[in-house]
Amino acid sequence: MEMDKLVALCKRRGFLFQSSEIYGGLNGFWDYGPLGVELKRNIKEAWWRDMVSGHDDLAAPPGAPTAYEMVGIDCTIIMHPQVWKVSGHYDLFVDKMVDCKAEGCKGRFRVDHIPSSECPLKPSKHPGEHDKCKLTEPRDFNLMFKTIVGALGTEEDAAFLRPETAQGIFVNFRNVCDSSRVRVPFGIAQMGKSFRNEITPRNFTFRSREFEQMEIEFFCHPKSSPQWYQYWRDRRMKWYTDLGLAGERLRLREHGKEELSHYSCGTSDIEYAFPFLEAGDFGELEGIAHRGDFDLRSHMEGKLVTKDGQLIVEQGPDGKPKWKGSGKDLSYRDDLTNERFVPHVIEPSAGADRGTLAFLCEAYHEDQAPDDKGQMQTRVVMRFHPRIAPIKVAVFPLVKKDGMPEIAERIYRAIKPHMTVFYDESGAVGRRYRRQDEAGTPFCITVDGQTLTDGTVTLRDRDTLKQWRVHEKDLVAELRQRIG
Ligand code: GAP
Repeated sequence: MEMDKLVALCKRRGFLFQSSEIYGGLNGFWDYGPLGVELKRNIKEAWWRDMVSGHDDLAAPPGAPTAYEMVGIDCTIIMHPQVWKVSGHYDLFVDKMVDCKAEGCKGRFRVDHIPSSECPLKPSKHPGEHDKCKLTEPRDFNLMFKTIVGALGTEEDAAFLRPETAQGIFVNFRNVCDSSRVRVPFGIAQMGKSFRNEITPRNFTFRSREFEQMEIEFFCHPKSSPQWYQYWRDRRMKWYTDLGLAGERLRLREHGKEELSHYSCGTSDIEYAFPFLEAGDFGELEGIAHRGDFDLRSHMEGKLVTKDGQLIVEQGPDGKPKWKGSGKDLSYRDDLTNERFVPHVIEPSAGADRGTLAFLCEAYHEDQAPDDKGQMQTRVVMRFHPRIAPIKVAVFPLVKKDGMPEIAERIYRAIKPHMTVFYDESGAVGRRYRRQDEAGTPFCITVDGQTLTDGTVTLRDRDTLKQWRVHEKDLVAELRQRIG
């Protein structure tokens, strides 16, 4: 699949638009149109339902060491600045960048994105230039967006838009334990916006400056944390395959031991072979990390660094802790065993926009299907899993007479309370099917002459193109059973 075709379809059919497009757009920011917003909501709702609200707290799911509880949280985007100092984002959440000083270029690049020490825009943006390379020395660029809280506007009032949702969970660990009576092992889930001032946003929504994350921080006993890491790795991979990202374009990549921080016994990425990447390359959809007790301890004690394999509180030039923690006790006491410990954390951290992009790429297909005259034509069809399809079913009267529109409207209204349904009576029925195929609608209902005599309609399957008759009164049940 060529990426250009998908990008064009996303704009033409209202999945994705460039933000502020009428003013020329803003690099790294994207808006979801009417179909895109339904798709992304369905993906987020599937995640919330499968991970949180639909999770059975009482029974161990397949592969899990024991039963566990799941709860949700919704934290603010702007948090106390100390959060980011202690988490390490203030000092360490940087990309190395270089500037090109050549007149007419003035480009800015991530060092790891340029193949040589030369400006990658040569010669297109370097008119008249030959081999004067004007890249600056690499320097650190912090990815957090800065803002000011309150009216005074002084540097003391500086705050940051969160670059991940995870920290909101860690700083609320005590609150959740005290208010909801959860017992370790348990997970706290959050989804919401995160912001990173990426130097080179690119590849459609893949690397954006504003995006949504779906993160779980799973708290467990240190001894059982390796088993929980295995469980979450496999559980999250299964979630994507169940929703249709099956096949060789999806893979789970375990990080090598040399890539791991010493407190971690494993990190793996779920990756997808996006069509804009070189053949054989994969892009990250989600990371599953064993984080030990690093985060809770940092928020208790102060910013931690690693020295000789040990976690120690980082000191400033004056020998005092560089960034102090909250001083609050974030340990956990097991009331059955009386053991007190700082839980270890397994973190499955997914991007809602990257997931949506992967589902869009996977869904795009071109095949041959007959038109209204029975001639085979190329059709574009978005083969979304029915659970995430923006529209579940479309209803058409075959013609705009003989009472067919009235019956079709009645069917439309009967389905509406149960699922997203679209009514369309304009144009030849074949063209209406094509429009729904491009939107990824799994089923179409057509009211025709036979409906007037026996009350049945045709139900058409988007992928097999098979059509069969169903009585009007059985439609909702049949659709619910097929959509799941
Ligand atoms: N709390 C851990 C954390 O934030 P991360 O690997 O930096 O880890 C997790 O981000 C996920 O968030 C990524 O796997 C990706 O899906 C998504 N993500 C990160 N940066 C992004 C960006 N600039 N644009 C879109 N999605 C992004």
